[in-house]
Amino acid sequence: MQLPDEAITYQFQGLLQPAVEDWTPAAELRSQHFLHPATIRELMPRLMQVRSQVAAERELRQVPPEIAPLEAGFIDLPQKTLDQHRRQGDSSYLGRTLIQAGKLRDQTDHVVILGIGGSYMGARALFEALRSSYHNQLPPEKRLGTPRIYFEGNNADNDSLQELLDLLQTVCVDPELREERWAVIVISKSGGTLEPAAALRVFRREAAEFYGLHSDMLRRLIIPITGATGKLRELCLADGYAEDDLVTLPDNVGGRFSVFTPVGLLPAAVMGLDVRALLLGAADMTRRFLDEPFERNPVLQYAAVNYLAGQQGKPIRVLSIWSKKLEALGLWYDQLLAESLGKQGRGPTPLSVVNTRDLHGRGQQHQDGPRDKVINNLVVKTPANQPIMIGMADKNQDELNALNRKGYPDIINAAVRGTNQAYYEAARPTADLILPTLSEHIMGQLMQMLMLATVVEGRLMGVNPYGQPGVEAYKRNMKALLKS
Ligand code: PA5
Repeated sequence: MQLPDEAITYQFQGLLQPAVEDWTPAAELRSQHFLHPATIRELMPRLMQVRSQVAAERELRQVPPEIAPLEAGFIDLPQKTLDQHRRQGDSSYLGRTLIQAGKLRDQTDHVVILGIGGSYMGARALFEALRSSYHNQLPPEKRLGTPRIYFEGNNADNDSLQELLDLLQTVCVDPELREERWAVIVISKSGGTLEPAAALRVFRREAAEFYGLHSDMLRRLIIPITGATGKLRELCLADGYAEDDLVTLPDNVGGRFSVFTPVGLLPAAVMGLDVRALLLGAADMTRRFLDEPFERNPVLQYAAVNYLAGQQGKPIRVLSIWSKKLEALGLWYDQLLAESLGKQGRGPTPLSVVNTRDLHGRGQQHQDGPRDKVINNLVVKTPANQPIMIGMADKNQDELNALNRKGYPDIINAAVRGTNQAYYEAARPTADLILPTLSEHIMGQLMQMLMLATVVEGRLMGVNPYGQPGVEAYKRNMKALLKS
């Protein structure tokens, strides 16, 4: 059961127009650029209608053409996955994922994840948020049986691919040793995306050389995750995989909404993360979305506030991240928002920044540039590790002794508050998405919240959040050019 202090909250009072304020130039600007509480009240009936619509879409078996494609399977999936696991144990979807992850961890010390877009960004966000930033450099005993993790097949960059091959060739010499074996998880729902497909071909060639052309390691250590049909599936079946060896993705969950399918769960389990806690967090968020009133519902709050800011001439959606460990989460969200809502000539433009770093890059523009942004701070309240203190030093030329009792959490906290104050005074709207800490349960909540809010916002805008018809154009052209 989720404890109240483990719940993430969205605090948006900072971007509402103050009830009473004496006239000043800044107050005048706030009256133009901050949301009037009445606009939120006015949106409420429509927001509640959209929530009912999104809830009802979960049950649709026949999808009417006017709302196709519909990929609402992600909404109930976390709870369904947990329930099935409780009932069926090892033979459930999650049970099999955990067993497969255990085998990979037992057999190898290097796992390469091939996939692009929604087929890798969620796993990468979890890896960066919840594992050490230096995970791959840690000695095996410090990684507690967790392999080193690499991401490839998410670009068409010759040199970065070669660098990974070089690394594996250097450190993996004896395929009899677990520490020197490597494995591949290849993820493509369609099974036809060029970047991971080409990378798989390269790694299959490499694996045949390393393990031997007829070694059963090839099938044991190359794990495909794909849809019910497609070229990747056909390739694997032709390679002698049994149907059961292939991890099949649910049809009704789209790529960028798939982090709680094996797309995210198998890599997460290989990384040694607590996938049940992830799913619990996501299921808790779905419950809050469906059952809680607006006042306690971060999905509805976030969707409403950001939708209204967009309507009021703020097309740039800044996710201002106050933790280096959430940078990849920001990239995941950029993709989620851009690909879901960037349609029909409309949609917010996402921009993730990582602070305090980017205060020294983009801060100037956010403070004084065009008034086209709404800023959502993503704040981690308590770090996972003990605070590092500034402390006393003999030489005080840096004049930091006065701050000796302050720690890094105090610095980041002061930076958030100081920046919010500066933005408020300059009439730049900000809101805070508060994470109690970084844990699987919190990441589960956060990712489910952002996925649900994106769907709600799409429905408010009258844009289908599922599907990505615009992406197909470049794929078609690229393939045609390669074949010419
Ligand atoms: O959200 C999406 O559907 C996309 O970003 C896909 O995940 C991405 O294009 C990769 O597709 P696939 O998994 O079919 O290779």
